[in-house]
Amino acid sequence: MKTIFSGIQPSGTITLGNYIGALKQFVDLQNDFNCYFCIVDEHAITVPQDPQKLRKNIRSLAALYLAVGLDPEKATLFIQSEVPAHAQAGWLMQCISYIGELERMTQFKDKSAGKDAVTASLLTYPPLMAADILLYNADLVPVGEDQKQHLELTRDLAERFNKKYADILTIPDISLPKAGARIMSLQDPLKKMSKSDPNLKGFISLLDEPNQIVKKIKSAVTDSEGTIKFDRDNKPGVSNLLTIYSILTEKPVSEIEEMYSGKGYGDFKSDLAEVVVNYLKPIQERYYNLVESNELDEILDRGAEKANAVAGKTLKKMENAMGLGRKKR
Ligand code: TYM
Repeated sequence: MKTIFSGIQPSGTITLGNYIGALKQFVDLQNDFNCYFCIVDEHAITVPQDPQKLRKNIRSLAALYLAVGLDPEKATLFIQSEVPAHAQAGWLMQCISYIGELERMTQFKDKSAGKDAVTASLLTYPPLMAADILLYNADLVPVGEDQKQHLELTRDLAERFNKKYADILTIPDISLPKAGARIMSLQDPLKKMSKSDPNLKGFISLLDEPNQIVKKIKSAVTDSEGTIKFDRDNKPGVSNLLTIYSILTEKPVSEIEEMYSGKGYGDFKSDLAEVVVNYLKPIQERYYNLVESNELDEILDRGAEKANAVAGKTLKKMENAMGLGRKKR
């Protein structure tokens, strides 16, 4: 069975974009792969975090992993900081990364733009992400489109390591969802939907209340044409809403266009709001049952144990190949 690794940052709200780009893929893939899904808390602290809120967000994301349908019998769910090999292998990866290639990462450019003080970890974020993936010898990494550049760097770093030291690391492939690899902001359909958007109406959180969802979808930016047609270049807002509708109902976009032929944006938006509310309802119910449960801790303890065993082995191989320590361990 091939191996999958992916992670999500516990940095607050988890959006419908995170769900469609990543979580939904995780659920679909868990039956056919040996899966590791991580809560990447060490990545989250590359920007300032309130310690108490971070702890809460970590638990919340773990509960969401289960609530959306990940099965701990099939997939290993764990927290990055509970597996020290990540930070250790992250350092090894930094030692074979060049500053120039890290400065070229668009996420680094976006997050550091206009800031007086930029943490070193914002720059060295991608080598840690590479370590996450390579420690498990992942064959495939399901992510949204914004992570493509990081995945390409991960492949480069793995190849570089294998050439320089020993042929140890698996070169991973990226898995993008067929549709919805880039869900756009509801307020600016030319920007991706992001949990860090200061305009709260730009994103839907998986834990939004029904009335918030309705309000956000009703105020989504569209265009003045009034026809429900998929046309990403000329109708980015409507196309984004159609994508969400199609993915959550599993109806082809063409069928939805037909359903709304002759109807206006008002009808379309209220139906979409209902679709989203109904889709999220059972997820939210499961979430609230799980978030304070002991079951959640047991699952995360088991996950950390398994992840430590696998990641520890790869780390040892990497350290041996690089000549660290007094003798081969
Ligand atoms: P993060 O936490 O920003 O996002 C988690 C996942 O959600 C996807 N995503 C989206 N997909 C579609 N439309 C959107 N608007 C949208 N917004 C976010 C992201 O592509 C991602 O798959 N660096 C990663 C976390 C990470 C990781 C890893 C991922 C750390 N180590 C190892 C994979 C493997 C990140 O910041 O994701």
